[in-house]
Amino acid sequence: MNLNNNEEYLSAYEKAAKEGIDPRCIPQKLTGEVPIHDKIIYPNYSEEEHDIWKFLYNRQMNFLPNRAADEYLFGVEKLKLTEDRIPSLKEISYVFYDTTGWKVARVPGLIDVEDFFKLISQRIFPSTDYIRKKEELDYTPAPDLFHDIFGHMPMLTNNSFANFYQKFGIASLNANPIDRKQLETFHWFTVEFGLIKTAKGTRIYGAGILSSLGEVQHALSDEVEVREFDPDKIVMQEYDVWHLQPILFAIESFEQLEEGFNYWCNKKKIL
Ligand SMILES: [Fe+2]
Repeated sequence: MNLNNNEEYLSAYEKAAKEGIDPRCIPQKLTGEVPIHDKIIYPNYSEEEHDIWKFLYNRQMNFLPNRAADEYLFGVEKLKLTEDRIPSLKEISYVFYDTTGWKVARVPGLIDVEDFFKLISQRIFPSTDYIRKKEELDYTPAPDLFHDIFGHMPMLTNNSFANFYQKFGIASLNANPIDRKQLETFHWFTVEFGLIKTAKGTRIYGAGILSSLGEVQHALSDEVEVREFDPDKIVMQEYDVWHLQPILFAIESFEQLEEGFNYWCNKKKIL
């Protein structure tokens, strides 16, 4: 072992930073227990961090009436998300547990897919507890608490969605690499970029849209082709993570999402 070369002592995280890759984009394998539910400690956020939350919260909420799905907006209320302060993961976890039986786990950043699937298969949502910097208000390359909490968590108070998401975790653990790739695509067009048709018009429930200023203004515009929900077609649809989405899929109901997913997974024998 060459002691002058300390390269092998660096974690994947440190190596990425050295190579100029944003280490937040490197999925981390969880090595120990992560704090879950009542074990999560509320960090000592600075005033500046609370202000970043307030700014992002108000900026998105401004666009959400008549754009976001009712189920999502009910979730925001249920979780008592307000502009006042960065929410507590522990308090959210208590609400989840009482409504859909989910819990929250605090994770250090982007986590390894296997760890992610394991947690959601147990109805545990992994969340970060740090917020993006002032310089990254419009874009951050990796998840932060604004994406995780504001984007994802309200929908987990909805029973059908919560059931579907647990099944997504279970199916992903059972899937071979080809099916996993297709599941990733399914996740993208539903959990992250999903739309729903309602009597009042098309509405958004995908976290990637709801937590992004550009996407929330773009998703319901004429520039987007909205296609009918069809799991077989969704899993084959290409997408580009770096640009605004030109094609999105709209479900009729969250029951349809759950049933459609079951149907696709049964065919693949992964659920
Ligand atoms: Fe996400």
